[in-house]
Amino acid sequence: MRLIAIFFGLIFLLVGFRSNQSIELIFPSSWPEPIYNSNNYPLNEQKVELGRALFFDPQLSSDNTISCASCHSPYNAFTHVDHQLSHGINDRIGTRNSPAIFNLAWQKDLMWDGAIHHVDAQALAPINHPDEMGSSINEIVQKLNKDVRYKKAFKSIYSDDLITGERVLKLLGQFMISLVSCDSKYDRVMSGKDKFDEQEKRGYELFCKNCSECHKEPLFSDYSFRNNGLEPDPQLKDIGRMKITQNRMDSLKFKVPSLRNIEFTFPYMHDGRYKKLSEVIDHYDRKIHFSNTLDPILEKGIHFTTNEKVDLVAFLLTLTDKNFMFAPEHGYPKDFFNQK
Ligand code: HEC
Ligand code: HEC
Repeated sequence: MRLIAIFFGLIFLLVGFRSNQSIELIFPSSWPEPIYNSNNYPLNEQKVELGRALFFDPQLSSDNTISCASCHSPYNAFTHVDHQLSHGINDRIGTRNSPAIFNLAWQKDLMWDGAIHHVDAQALAPINHPDEMGSSINEIVQKLNKDVRYKKAFKSIYSDDLITGERVLKLLGQFMISLVSCDSKYDRVMSGKDKFDEQEKRGYELFCKNCSECHKEPLFSDYSFRNNGLEPDPQLKDIGRMKITQNRMDSLKFKVPSLRNIEFTFPYMHDGRYKKLSEVIDHYDRKIHFSNTLDPILEKGIHFTTNEKVDLVAFLLTLTDKNFMFAPEHGYPKDFFNQK
């Protein structure tokens, strides 16, 4: 009898231990240390899982039609591809293209203009935005408190089943911080497990010479704010970083986006103006719009021959990380939503 008790005790201990495990971000040793301080709020497997359920749950919008994943689909490295600008509830159109979400642990500022500094505060913006989810954290908390699936899940993580706004935001933050994309062909080449073909090699050289100052390896962004010479859209009148700092010298500057998974994150730029990578390269080649905040690196444009353009695109395609995009643990959490 005592043996049986010890046996079940042990099983309980093992299961309990496994399901409440803290997790570490896994990334190549050559990468810089993440900025996200995991000591303050360590990643935890169960919390990441619950954060994923919230991320895919349309109950976070006022009419239960739009989830975070509607605009940030895992199969496109967590951005949307169907429109230039994001579409929210009642098909209302926003003013910017949704950025891809991965490697947030290395980013100091979020949004195209750096309006947000902490991942736990991020979700409030789309939740409250009338053209995005049109809801409020109080409304969401009320809905979730009536949902037994969440009651059960909260109870198993925290010692009570209290669903609070703070917990919801932190859980979403846990899921997003856990999204690390570091398994592309480029990464395998860098770790000596694979080789570029001749064309990719030429493309990589062109990239290092012309693009990597801003799209800095290994994250493919230095996450600074810069003006890359896009002609301002007369309708959107988006002044970028200046909206936050009120400093004229920040006019038309936007956060340098990572080029990881770029094959799948079209349309491109903060307003989604370009559909194809060849159009982006043509932009740098001959469409640079001059203004007094244009980045000095781009003053003369970056010129390529037709062959060089093809080589550069071949290199950019090596940044695709399908293992990240199609990882079951990043997709719709069927098991959570199908439970009775
Ligand atoms: C209607 C479409 C839409 C929905 C729904 C939406 N987002 Fe976004 N998201 C955007 C757009 C557009 C931006 C860029 C906004 C800006 O720069 O001003 C963005 C930016 C972000 C960023 C910043 C990424 C970066 O690299 O700076 C994160 C993180 C994010 N969203 C998470 C979420 C979460 C969490 C939810 C659900 C609570 C959500 N989003 C719902 C469209 C959406
Ligand atoms: C001076 C810094 C700078 C240089 C050099 C630069 N870029 Fe960019 N790039 C940016 C900025 C800033 C953006 C975002 C602009 C925006 O949306 O307003 C961007 C956007 C992009 C995008 C769109 C990404 C997305 O997710 O929307 C691609 C693709 C891109 N650049 C490729 C390149 C290539 C290829 C080169 C070299 C030929 C290059 N860039 C050189 C700063 C730079």
